[in-house]
Amino acid sequence: MLEDGKAIMLLKTDTRDKIWDDAFAQAMPELEVRLWPDTGNPSEINCALLWGPPPELFDGLDNLEVIFSIGAGVDSLLSCPTLPVHLPIVRMVEPELTAGMVEFCLFHVLRFHRLMPVFEANRVERHWEELTQAPASEITVGVMGLGALGMALTRQLTALRYQVIGYRRGFGEVDGLEVFHGKVQLEAFMRRSEILVALMPSTQETRGLINSKTLSWLPPGAYVINAGRGDLINERDLVSALDEGSLAGAALDVFETEPLPQDSALWTHDKVYLTPHIASITHPPTACRYIADAISDFRQGKPWPNLVQPGRGY
Ligand code: NDP
Ligand code: OXD
Repeated sequence: MLEDGKAIMLLKTDTRDKIWDDAFAQAMPELEVRLWPDTGNPSEINCALLWGPPPELFDGLDNLEVIFSIGAGVDSLLSCPTLPVHLPIVRMVEPELTAGMVEFCLFHVLRFHRLMPVFEANRVERHWEELTQAPASEITVGVMGLGALGMALTRQLTALRYQVIGYRRGFGEVDGLEVFHGKVQLEAFMRRSEILVALMPSTQETRGLINSKTLSWLPPGAYVINAGRGDLINERDLVSALDEGSLAGAALDVFETEPLPQDSALWTHDKVYLTPHIASITHPPTACRYIADAISDFRQGKPWPNLVQPGRGY
């Protein structure tokens, strides 16, 4: 039993086995880590830290008590058909992951607000033009998704004096922030968002939510930043809006298909900045500390933190 016995962790990472193994050795020296697929006797394993588990990973894990997700997003877990959804699934919420995402989004908000794409194009033409730039206090940034990451971003945007509005699924209010809820308020939210930042999970409800219709609600010349999941946006609709000029630019870290296919129009689009899903990568030292604290709290009778609700998809 994890509660009072030894913790044996099955680890399935993307490509960073050694870094994670070393980080656990620092944060939880008493933990035995087994790297997938070398599970040993699977019935001894009582916890697992996973990214993109293959269906056969759960074979024989009869005494598994908790699953930790390496990512903040759990779509790669929830799409596994053998995932034991009756077990607690703990999402990754760790300070460096949050800080990295805030940096990434702020970087692009500032880049768009301060018209860097225009100055970069002017430089190529050796064209000198002192364009007027609106102060941050006159720019509205719409943050789609007010979870661990979205909320951290709204605080920093507010500190920089942007006008910040938020969009979420549920009806919870947030002190000091104008919040729009659910599909009925999506149009009102989009109409105000001069810079839209998508930080939602990929779920049945969010897939394709940003499409030609909803993009047409954005103010003319708006910018879109997507660091949530690629399928939040219909890429073809996005490219059309950029080509028509209703949208001034986009910064994309996530894509409908990853790696981005060689023939994607996004690679060469002059209004698109793209990065290969690196907006924020979980930092093993702080992530292992989060897991160590969660296990220690659980042993003292406290609930698991940041539990996924499989029925709602995040
Ligand atoms: P959380 O689960 O804490 O927050 C999710 C937010 O999205 C919540 O505010 C939720 O609303 C909102 N949401 C969910 N469904 C809907 C919907 N149908 N309509 C409107 N709002 C919705 O997640 P995090 O903030 O930790 O992470 C967000 C996402 O960022 C992850 O799921 C992942 O996909 C992505 N990510 C990307 C990374 C990258 O490197 N590109 C790195 C890390 C994460 P409510 O508050 O009402 O529940
Ligand atoms: C995550 C990611 O979900 O890196 O954490 O995409």
